[in-house]
Amino acid sequence: MKNDESVVVTPATTAPLQGKHIIVGITGGIAAYKAPLLVRLLIKAGAEVRCAVTEHAMQFVTPLTLETVSNNSVYSDLFDRSNTHSTEHIALKDWGDAIVVAPATANIIGKMANGIADDALSTLLLSFRKTTFVCPAMNTNMLESPAYIRNVDILHNDGVHFIESESGELACGTYGNGRMAEPEQIAKAVIETMALKYSDTNILTGKKILITAGPTYEKIDSVRFIGNFSTGKMGFAIAEELAKRGCKVTLVAGPTSLTTSHPSINRIDVLSARQMFDAATREYESCDAAILSAAVADFRPEHEADHKIKKQNDLDGMTIHLVQNPDILATLGGNKRQGQYLVGFALETDNEIDNAKKKLTKKNLDFIVLNSLHDKGAGFGHDTNKVTIIDRAGKVTQCELKSKKAVAIDIADKLSEIMSSQQV
Ligand code: CTP
Repeated sequence: MKNDESVVVTPATTAPLQGKHIIVGITGGIAAYKAPLLVRLLIKAGAEVRCAVTEHAMQFVTPLTLETVSNNSVYSDLFDRSNTHSTEHIALKDWGDAIVVAPATANIIGKMANGIADDALSTLLLSFRKTTFVCPAMNTNMLESPAYIRNVDILHNDGVHFIESESGELACGTYGNGRMAEPEQIAKAVIETMALKYSDTNILTGKKILITAGPTYEKIDSVRFIGNFSTGKMGFAIAEELAKRGCKVTLVAGPTSLTTSHPSINRIDVLSARQMFDAATREYESCDAAILSAAVADFRPEHEADHKIKKQNDLDGMTIHLVQNPDILATLGGNKRQGQYLVGFALETDNEIDNAKKKLTKKNLDFIVLNSLHDKGAGFGHDTNKVTIIDRAGKVTQCELKSKKAVAIDIADKLSEIMSSQQV
């Protein structure tokens, strides 16, 4: 999570973390010296803070410093006999509303991803089920290693929030990405995420959202079709994320083997673009917003044979005449009422940003999600995606390669931001 805006920690009267219990987990990196400042900022924002540290972290920051700034005892030893509870990690996991691991070394990230619990902090992390933030800090080579990237992917899928490292001079004397985000940025990200999770006024709560996902199949005859490689993973991830945030989701899905788990998702299965068009135009009427992520076939065979077309030996070849399918997104854009929102996806090969901006205007969208075609791991079938989000005001947000679940969080955040900014 990168943000260049200066940080304003809200004064105590409107303390955004009032009543929240935050555990700051500290591991053995040089950035541990910044942890007391983070503790102070979280307390200033209204939270009660307790620290959990690893053996190595104590080489960089003393428990006495952390106890003094947090006004609480520090948890560092699984077998500390002076603990009031013999299973302190269990007591702490119930106490905390969130854990912020800052700094998070490659080692703790590896342990978290693989369920290793061999000290006080990793044991606490394994038993913790609530909001978890990780603030990586390490050398660029470690950050770019395949093992680290795999572990980050696993944690993204587990719903862990990453507050990304920044570029700068590193402890090893080199320059590159891997420097822990500044405590102000971390506090800001924690405040924003917690506010979204706990706010009764979360703008998305109760909203009815339409989502299209997956491919469409256009029948040639009773056994053949024209389709595409879309799996629907992106749209299904968005549906789950919005349902988690209290939305009533209608998911119009093309043919896919994916399943949904949230009870607030009403799934309508369709096969062809025209069936998707019928369902989407009907459902959008009563929706507050729609996010169209489906890879709709632009063309269909003009005639569909009701039997299997036989091979004909005397024929040199075969021609299938295609006609254009209706554009669902453009139709919804044309019908959009005041107070309704519409989000589209774009897949471009040339002048990507310019073409996506044109699509945004032409189809009357509030923002558009541009898929990258050039990055390994992005696009059809992958669990990861790399997108750029462009809104009507011209703001362009380039996201890094991340899991589709994490991209779904970014899209839900953007929808929430746009809806909040236009609230009267
Ligand atoms: N879309 C749609 N109905 C169609 C075609 C596309 O709703 N018949 C939606 C997709 O779900 C996506 C967006 O339109 O949200 C963009 O799709 P894309 O294939 O990038 O662009 P097109 O509008 O089809 O334009 P072109 O192929 O000319 O780039």
